[in-house]
Amino acid sequence: MLKAIYPGTFDPITNGHLDIIKRAARLFDLLIIAVAASPGKAPMFDLAERVALIRAATAEMDKVTVLSFDTLMADFARQQQASVLVRGVRSGADVEYEHQLARMNQHLLPGLETIFLFSDPRWSFISSSLVKDVFFHGGAIHDLVPAAVAQAMLRQRRDH
Ligand code: COA
Repeated sequence: MLKAIYPGTFDPITNGHLDIIKRAARLFDLLIIAVAASPGKAPMFDLAERVALIRAATAEMDKVTVLSFDTLMADFARQQQASVLVRGVRSGADVEYEHQLARMNQHLLPGLETIFLFSDPRWSFISSSLVKDVFFHGGAIHDLVPAAVAQAMLRQRRDH
């Protein structure tokens, strides 16, 4: 069984992430979306909310499962017995950083390969932070994130 992991903070999941998930799911028997705690990023949504939003957005995808982790990515991959990491590349600017991550993960777990999918051009300019920035300044984000995420962002703003 060829198992892959798509890791990220997903604060929140965007259409760009979803595009990578849909395409990667076709390549593997199982795709684990690994949601990193990433406390250093002071996420807008807590870990359980991020997991729930991704589960809602991927409910129809039977080869996709969503888990959280707060360890090293390499340790999580070892624990899940997954030998492949999937990462999305939006532009040349991502490549240097991705090169470092891939090499470090391989250093930590020899045999762990990272494969890269180029983002669909429709989503190559977005990141979770940029979506949040646009939202907090009153801009429209409904065409950048799944509907449940847009609703959760509105709810979060109303409650805080
Ligand atoms: N579409 C839209 N946005 C995308 C994207 C895509 N295809 N690919 C990346 N992004 C965005 C992300 O949303 C993120 O936005 P943000 O910085 O505003 O939150 C940004 O681009 C950077 O993405 P990424 O590099 O995936 O950061 P991340 O925080 O989502 O994930 C981890 C980084 C979690 C994979 C990494 O920190 C990790 O593995 N942590 C665990 C600890 C560890 O093992 N550390 C050593 C690593 S070698």
